[in-house]
Amino acid sequence: MKIKAEKKRAEPGEVIAVIRRILAENGREYIGSYVAAALCLIAAAATTGFSAWIMRDVIDQIFYQRRADLIVLISLLVFGAFVVRGLAGYGQAVILSKVGNNLVARYQQRLFDHLMRLGVDFHTSNRSAQLAAQINQNVGGIRDLLGTTLKAVAGDMVTLVALVVVMVIQDPVLSIFAFLIGPPLIFAVNKLTRRLRRISRETIEVNSRLIGAMQEATQGIAVVKAFTMEDQLSRRIAKLISDTEWRSNKIARISERLTPISEMLAGLAVAGVIAYAGYRAAYHQQPPGAVFSFISALLLAYDPVRRLARVQIGLERALVNARMIYEILDLKPRQGDAPGAPQLRVPKGEVRFNDVHFGYSEELPVLHGVSFVAEAGKTTAIVGASGAGKSTLTALLERFYDLESGSIEVDGQDIATVTKKSLREKIAFVSQQPYLFEGTIADNIRYGREDATEAEVRAAAELAAADEFIREQPQGYDTPVGENGATLSGGQRQRVSIARAILRQAPILLLDEATSALDTESEARIQDALATAMKGRTVIVIAHRLSTVVHADKIVVLESGRVVEEGTHEELLSDPHGVYARFHRVQSAKGLGLVDDTRKKVSVRRSQRATGGAVA
Ligand SMILES: Nc1ncnc2c1ncn2[C@@H]1O[C@H](COP(=O)(O)OP(=O)(O)OP(=O)(O)O)[C@@H](O)[C@H]1O
Ligand SMILES: [Mg+2]
Repeated sequence: MKIKAEKKRAEPGEVIAVIRRILAENGREYIGSYVAAALCLIAAAATTGFSAWIMRDVIDQIFYQRRADLIVLISLLVFGAFVVRGLAGYGQAVILSKVGNNLVARYQQRLFDHLMRLGVDFHTSNRSAQLAAQINQNVGGIRDLLGTTLKAVAGDMVTLVALVVVMVIQDPVLSIFAFLIGPPLIFAVNKLTRRLRRISRETIEVNSRLIGAMQEATQGIAVVKAFTMEDQLSRRIAKLISDTEWRSNKIARISERLTPISEMLAGLAVAGVIAYAGYRAAYHQQPPGAVFSFISALLLAYDPVRRLARVQIGLERALVNARMIYEILDLKPRQGDAPGAPQLRVPKGEVRFNDVHFGYSEELPVLHGVSFVAEAGKTTAIVGASGAGKSTLTALLERFYDLESGSIEVDGQDIATVTKKSLREKIAFVSQQPYLFEGTIADNIRYGREDATEAEVRAAAELAAADEFIREQPQGYDTPVGENGATLSGGQRQRVSIARAILRQAPILLLDEATSALDTESEARIQDALATAMKGRTVIVIAHRLSTVVHADKIVVLESGRVVEEGTHEELLSDPHGVYARFHRVQSAKGLGLVDDTRKKVSVRRSQRATGGAVA
């Protein structure tokens, strides 16, 4: 599900195809604005053509024929042309910016909504910071693609046509001279854009990696400092930075190569025209107005020609941007709901795993036929070594991933056949890594249930043994939490997450190491509170600490993706060779203070070493 990094060549028709798609998707409401902008651009183009045209009368009537009566009229016409051009320029710029900003806003919203729809698997296989950077760099391309095209076609192209008409009318022979620079210019532009195409996409990718790496390094700053990784990371980033710099330089070199080429060609045209017209004037008597008008048109045509020559370069980059945006938007979310999927109904809350096989990738199976029942209204505990697949069970029950085979049923309904939304609404989940979002503590609890009252938020916090510490915060419940709750302790973050889950009032509660960061006393308090709050609900609790699970109605022992034992605490202890009994022995040994003994042993060894004694 990684975003592909394929380097497909842009087909000539592709700009049009993408523009069509953008227009089709963003509908008709922009058409009016684009027509208005086009009219402004055409008005500006017409006035440019007019300014060149009127040069003939300026020279012939005012200076050659000395028609004093026409001075005021001609001057006023020139002034009028500038005013119209100014207003038209203002109009098109404002309209195009407004439409462009609105387009960007729309795509940002669409992208966010789409990212939220994509499955957990997409997000685990793409680095979040890099993804955000890529979207950020690309979203403007949609706006540029439309804006640049419109300006090029309705602005520069129309201006050029107007000026060419003026040139041809004023002096057809000279026009042929001027137009000779067209073919070599087009040839040069084509060659350059082909080279730019490749490098544009690579640049965006390298840039995204760079920004992503910077963000990751700052997020993990405590680890970076603790392991003195600064130099190491700096070296690694230096490579990305110099790569980006090199690419930017290359882009500049290639695209700026157009400047000397077009200047030279323009110089050739202007010099040729002056030379030819000069010789002609020396041998033929002719009023100079037409030539002046022609040269004005030629000089005025230079800017639009230069811009048009560059348009292809700009479009090329915008096209790469737009394509990368559509690559994300076109990803189909997996685990989609089947058409007409019914809502999950949970009258009792029984959860049943039937011979579940699953692996995150084909090479590495994680669960090998897991079957167990979490009875309705009871507490089922899942224990097992790290990596046994416990968190995976919660991910599958939430339907973050599809099963390889087997099924998971809630009150007899296969969760794969009901809507995901209805399934997740029935489950309150505290994940192993509690996550807090930007906002206040109260906001974070209220994500459990949007319409919860303030009193309900407080009640949930109390049950999660969080009320006390929250009230001690500088602004109580309205205290903003740092990035991912960085201003709270690990245990405080867990308690806020538990409060969020309690507030959800769902029939199934899923706790994955939810109290692992708490001291035994706080944990016991939360457990008592949960026991009351969760009466009649199905609770599935995952814990390493066996003190958390002794009171569970049933304990399921998972080992390397298989259920190896099942029963109550007493039942499991009755088999002294069982896995659970072994866990229990190890943990109670720690509880009996053997840990301190080990420490003593270590210090004894150290002192032996210090005195040169042998270590057994
Ligand atoms: N997103 C993932 N992609 C690939 N493999 C994964 C992913 N998440 C977990 N795994 C692998 O699946 C196996 C089971 O992981 P899981 O998180 O379910 O273990 P766990 O029993 O919850 O362990 P712990 O007690 O440490 O939380 C592990 O080998 C792990 O490497
Ligand atoms: Mg886990």
